[in-house]
Amino acid sequence: MRAVVSQDTCIGCGLCPSIAPDVFEMKDDGKAHVIANPVPKDSEDAAKEAADSCPVNAIAVE
Ligand code: F3S
Repeated sequence: MRAVVSQDTCIGCGLCPSIAPDVFEMKDDGKAHVIANPVPKDSEDAAKEAADSCPVNAIAVE
């Protein structure tokens, strides 16, 4: 599985790194970035949950 954060869409709410800290990290630009691609197997459920939870649907997992 790979994860992508749309930098144009992310509003920096901070939810995804709190749900999946091994996959997402807030950077100095105030946006979430993917720090693990491909997503580690044991983080896939958390990555999916983060994608479902993002208030602006900025995260794609495939
Ligand atoms: Fe941004 Fe959505 Fe994460 S707004 S910080 S990608 S939960």
